[in-house]
Amino acid sequence: MDSIIFNSYKIGGMTLRNRIVRSATFEGAADENGNPNSKYIALYKSLAEKQVGMIITGFAFVSGNGRAMQRAQAGIDTSKKILSYRKITDEVHKHNVPIILQIAHSGRQTIKKVTNSKIISSTKKSSVYFRQKPSLINDSEIEEVIMQFSNAAYLAKEAGFDGVQIHAAHGYLLHQFLLPETNVLKNKYGIDKKTHLGIKLLEEIFDSIKAGCDNSFPVLVKISGDHNLGSNFFPDQFDHLISFLDGKHFDAIEISYGTMDYAINIFRGDLDLELVFKHNPIFLTDNPIKKYLMKFYINTFISSRFIDFSPAYNLRYAERAKQLTTIPVISVGGFRSKFEIENAINNKQTDLVGMARPFICEPDFAEKLAATDGDYKSRCINCNKCVFMCDSGKPTICYSKG
Ligand SMILES: Cc1cc2nc3c(=O)[nH]c(=O)nc-3n(C[C@H](O)[C@H](O)[C@H](O)COP(=O)(O)O)c2cc1C
Repeated sequence: MDSIIFNSYKIGGMTLRNRIVRSATFEGAADENGNPNSKYIALYKSLAEKQVGMIITGFAFVSGNGRAMQRAQAGIDTSKKILSYRKITDEVHKHNVPIILQIAHSGRQTIKKVTNSKIISSTKKSSVYFRQKPSLINDSEIEEVIMQFSNAAYLAKEAGFDGVQIHAAHGYLLHQFLLPETNVLKNKYGIDKKTHLGIKLLEEIFDSIKAGCDNSFPVLVKISGDHNLGSNFFPDQFDHLISFLDGKHFDAIEISYGTMDYAINIFRGDLDLELVFKHNPIFLTDNPIKKYLMKFYINTFISSRFIDFSPAYNLRYAERAKQLTTIPVISVGGFRSKFEIENAINNKQTDLVGMARPFICEPDFAEKLAATDGDYKSRCINCNKCVFMCDSGKPTICYSKG
C-alpha cells in the first residue's frame, strides 16, 4: 500500500483516494430513451466499493441527434432523468468516490437509423467507418449544441455528479471541430490559421458550463493525442491544444488516441470480424458474398493502418502534456500492471492512470493492486470482445477472462 499509486490526489476540489481512474466505458445499460437502468447502478456501486479513485461514466448523449449508434446508450438531455442518476451518485458517494459524467455528441459518428434526425458535423465528408453523409452544421445548430452540453452539465450537477468530462476525443463532434481534416467551417468555429485547430466550440461549451453550473463545478476533458486521418497532429497541434486547455483551466485532461475511423487503434489488440459482422449495424449481414467482400476490404485496405497493442501506449502524449501544463493529466490506454502504473507516475509522465478494459475484466482491479506487494497483472488479454459487443444492445461485460 505504500506505492505512489495509493497517495491521494486532488482534482478541482475533489479528493481522490488514489491515482486510479476508471475511464469512460460504455455501459449498455439504459432504456431506449437513455434512462440508466438497474444494471447501470449495480456497475457503479460495485466499482465504488472496490477502491477505485475516481469513476468516469460511459458517454452520455446530450441530445437525441447526438446519440451514438449503440443501442442502450445512456443520455442526459432532460430533467426527467435526474432521479435515476441520483440513485447512482448516492450509491457511489457512500464509498467516498467521486463520479464524473462523460457528456458527448456524436456528430458524424452515428447512423440515421438510430438518431432519426439530421446528422450534423463541421464537415460534409462521411467518416470511412460510419459512411453517413453529414450536413454542414449551421450557426443556430451550433448554438443548440452549446446549450445541450451546458444543459447536460447542469442536469449532471443536479443529479449529484461531482463533475463532467467533455468528450473531445475519438472522433466525436468536438473532435471533428478540432481537426482541419473534419472542419471546413469558415466562421469563428473554423480552423485557426496559426494553431491549425478549431477550438472555439469547445471553448464556448466550457464557458457556458462554468457559467451555468458555477465556476467551481469540475469540467474535465478527454482528447486524442494523435489520429490516423492523414497529417500528424502530434506534436505541433497537440501542443497548441494543451496550451489552450491550460489557459482555460480545465480541471483535468485525459489523453487517449484516435477516431472511430480506425476504431481499433483507440483500443489495440485483437479484431474479431465475426463479432463485428454479427452485431455492428454498419456491417450487419447474413449475405456470405457481402461478408467476404467486406472482410477483403478491411484486410486489404484498412488493416495496414492498425497499430499493435503495447503497454501504456498513449503515455508519450501525457508526458508531453505534463511539460506544458500543471493541470492534472490522466493517461489512458494499455495500462495492465501495477508496475506500469507506478513507473509512469513515479517518472512524472502522468499524474493519474485511466483504465477501461482491466475494470471490465476485474471490477476489483484497484483493490487487487492495493493488496499485492509486488507486481499485479490484469487478466485482460485485449481480445476486445467487450468492445465489439457494445453494438449488441447487451450490457458491457468481459467475454474471456484471461
Ligand atoms: C467496452 C468499452 C467501451 C468504451 N466506451 C467509451 C466511452 O463511452 N467513452 C470514451 O471516451 N471511451 C470509451 N472507451 C475507451 C476507454 O475509455 C479507453 O480510452 C480505451 O479502452 C483504452 O483504455 P484501456 O486500454 O484501459 O481499455 C471504451 C472502451 C471499452 C473497452
